[in-house]
Amino acid sequence: MVTDAAQIDAARILVASNRGPVSYTLTEDGGLDARRGGGGVVSGLSAIGSDEQSLWVCAALGEGDREAVRRGVGEPGVRMLDIDPAVHADAYNGIANSVLWFLHHLLYQTPLEPAFDQEFRRQWDAYRAYNRAFADALAESAAEGAAVLIQDYHLALAPGMLRERRPDLRIGHFSHTPWAPPDYFRLLPDDIAEELLRGMLGADRLGFLTQRWADAFTACATQVVGGTGSTVTGVYGLGADAGFLRERAHRPDVGERLAELREAVGPDRRTIVRVDRTELSKNIVRGLLAYRTLLATRPEWRERVVHIALAYPSRQDLAVYREYTAEVSRLAAEINEEYGTPGWTPVLIHVKDDFARSLAAYRMADVALVNPIRDGMNLVAKEVPVVSDEGCALVLSREAGAYAELGDHAITVNPYDVTATADALHRALAMPPAERAERTKHLAAAATALPPRRWFLDQLDALRD
Ligand code: G6P
Repeated sequence: MVTDAAQIDAARILVASNRGPVSYTLTEDGGLDARRGGGGVVSGLSAIGSDEQSLWVCAALGEGDREAVRRGVGEPGVRMLDIDPAVHADAYNGIANSVLWFLHHLLYQTPLEPAFDQEFRRQWDAYRAYNRAFADALAESAAEGAAVLIQDYHLALAPGMLRERRPDLRIGHFSHTPWAPPDYFRLLPDDIAEELLRGMLGADRLGFLTQRWADAFTACATQVVGGTGSTVTGVYGLGADAGFLRERAHRPDVGERLAELREAVGPDRRTIVRVDRTELSKNIVRGLLAYRTLLATRPEWRERVVHIALAYPSRQDLAVYREYTAEVSRLAAEINEEYGTPGWTPVLIHVKDDFARSLAAYRMADVALVNPIRDGMNLVAKEVPVVSDEGCALVLSREAGAYAELGDHAITVNPYDVTATADALHRALAMPPAERAERTKHLAAAATALPPRRWFLDQLDALRD
């Protein structure tokens, strides 16, 4: 790991992402609290030998991060970029989360949006400047011939910009989202679609979570810029970290949450569990509608099942995310109003992010509901079978990347079909225990086939070959 400024200009392995592995909050007495995050890249990087000098370049996100940069506080091996807050907001909220996220997840309500106007062009300039800040920092810090792994849709232009500055580098880019199909991708203005693809194609290698997303990218590149040139695409289906999850899921705090949840569910009831960051693509509202349909059409389940919905807020700077979050809570309350009895609350909803509670819910789930409109992978679908105490039936959207690996052992659904989802919930609830246990074994094996370290190192090896 890189430890001081002198070493920083010689990093041999570099990672770049908007959100870094650490974040800072200002404490009341003016101090800075550091919180480390998890995820595939974090465990991947930790697998690299200490003689390999690595550097993670990320953006300062909140006031705490910015203050840390100003004070020169930092983690070894991490460089935070203090990009102008207005530029960052336009790039992150305006372009990454309101345009690119919508495109790749097919979220536009097309009669009215998108409308690519002057305001969009202004924000696109900010997106360029933000990508440039990363390309400059990477160019400055990379040793001759170093490997650079750029992450996600926030940084689609950075590979091309970095290639111009440093033709000697090995540049990889990994998409943690789906990729839009060509007809939908071409909603973008032609010049922007071309700029975006040429930015990506500045990389030597482009990584995707499933073949389907890689093929969609290739189809877009073929239509818009005539092909992928010398850039190679590869598929790396990030898996769950079984060792970490199983150990973490049996710590005392998870035990406490488990007892609380069991108490709230009540004795002799089945559970349908979902855990999501409340992104617009997660389809939580249709999931609740399906559950309501189940209660309406199969009254035998009333009082005998509880839907545990852990819906943690994300990207609350954006009005449509806030409205969606509110709609989820409103609908849950409506179902409880309609069907609840003095001893039974049909939907238990929690919106405060709590990892221990998520693991407790995984452990006790009889059914896991993962029904995204479209999802790069969906790690919840992979984590539940690994952690589940007694086996769990998985209701899985065919539009999740995880479907490619787990589809054979899940009950799969078209995420738009509320009636079919209600039927799938019924089948999952009624599944005999032996079948459920058998399927869970297969799901867990498929879910852990490519653990985070392997996922990261495979990409690194491919880039250096
Ligand atoms: C999801 C996506 C990732 C993305 C991340 C950003 O997890 O799967 O592709 O990088 O969101 O989340 P953020 O909270 O930083 O906007």
